[in-house]
Amino acid sequence: MKGLILSGGKGTRLRPITYTGAKQLIPIANKPVLFYGIEAIRDAGITDVGIIVGDTREEIRQAVGDGSRWGIHITYIHQPEPLGLAHAVKIAQDFLGNEPFVMYLGDNLVKEGITPFVREFEQMRPNAQILLARVPNPHEFGVAVLEGDRVVRLIEKPKQPPSDLALVGVYMFDEHIFEAVHAIRPSARGELEITDAIQYLIDHGYQVRSHIISGWWKDTGNLDAILEANRILLEDIERDIRAEVDATSRLHGRVSIGEGTRVLHSVIRGPVIIGANCLIENAYVGPFTSIADGVHIVASEIEHSVILEGCRILNVGSRVEDSLLGRNVTVCRDEGKPRAVRLMLGDNSQVNLL
Ligand code: DAU
Repeated sequence: MKGLILSGGKGTRLRPITYTGAKQLIPIANKPVLFYGIEAIRDAGITDVGIIVGDTREEIRQAVGDGSRWGIHITYIHQPEPLGLAHAVKIAQDFLGNEPFVMYLGDNLVKEGITPFVREFEQMRPNAQILLARVPNPHEFGVAVLEGDRVVRLIEKPKQPPSDLALVGVYMFDEHIFEAVHAIRPSARGELEITDAIQYLIDHGYQVRSHIISGWWKDTGNLDAILEANRILLEDIERDIRAEVDATSRLHGRVSIGEGTRVLHSVIRGPVIIGANCLIENAYVGPFTSIADGVHIVASEIEHSVILEGCRILNVGSRVEDSLLGRNVTVCRDEGKPRAVRLMLGDNSQVNLL
């Protein structure tokens, strides 16, 4: 089997972060979301993987490389416009040929991996296999209607969902999907929907199996989902301290800190991951926080947040919480008078003052 990972798109729900970076490279527990997908595919024994890339193709290519670090071979497939998930399949046809394949949405995380589902597909050999998960907010996803265990209808982001079964962003197909993606027309939002392509397979008598997953799954397309994913993945980290920690600092529980980082007169309460070459001074870092390389947190408190490379959080009187900071962001308090909030923020930034 081959793998097809979708890493194009615009990431509008994560602006302003996605003005300057790919949403699939946002780190969760200090590892890009996309890498979890690549590892899930590699663990299922798939070594020939295509990645659909759009405007952020250079950044993704740089971060991922040729796949050799995972023992797989990666082919990049450029999608000039994000015209839909089924459009991505269309342009990958030359790469995929007649082989069955797993399609994996690059912003999805399936905690237990996908190996059992791939094995099931290989044994049963339906024309398509979809994964479903029960969610409280089905209107944000593709939604399935089942009769027994047969899929009868799929609807993309319905206003009135007919069930709570969301389509997970992992699909398995044989070559009949090409007939479907060529036959369907763009949806009301102007995209070629994979949901419509699978509905085409159902309507034309092809076999579409479904599997309701019980493990943890997340589409990391918005801030709350990223914070939740970060929380779930940090649950599994091991204590690993490579930093210089002074005698007045306290590290509680599962804390992982990279080389070259200095922790001075601070309290860190795990689960927390901190990258290399950071400075944590007179600070409190609370549970479920991921801090990337080269970050300074001085005279400040932070909890339940994801902080990207090179940020500075300095002298902030109140606690930074539930936050996602892009690269090289500075948050600081000036001691000068008059006391005021002074900001330089990119388009679509969000600041909540409490
Ligand atoms: O996460 C599961 C959901 O993913 C499913 O329940 C929906 O049925 C499915 O349509 C999809 O919905 P989203 O609105 O979340 O898809 P999104 O636009 O976020 O795209 C998913 C991934 O595919 C993302 O990594 C970007 C990439 N992509 C997207 C489009 C539209 C492409 O590579 N090319 C594209 O043209």
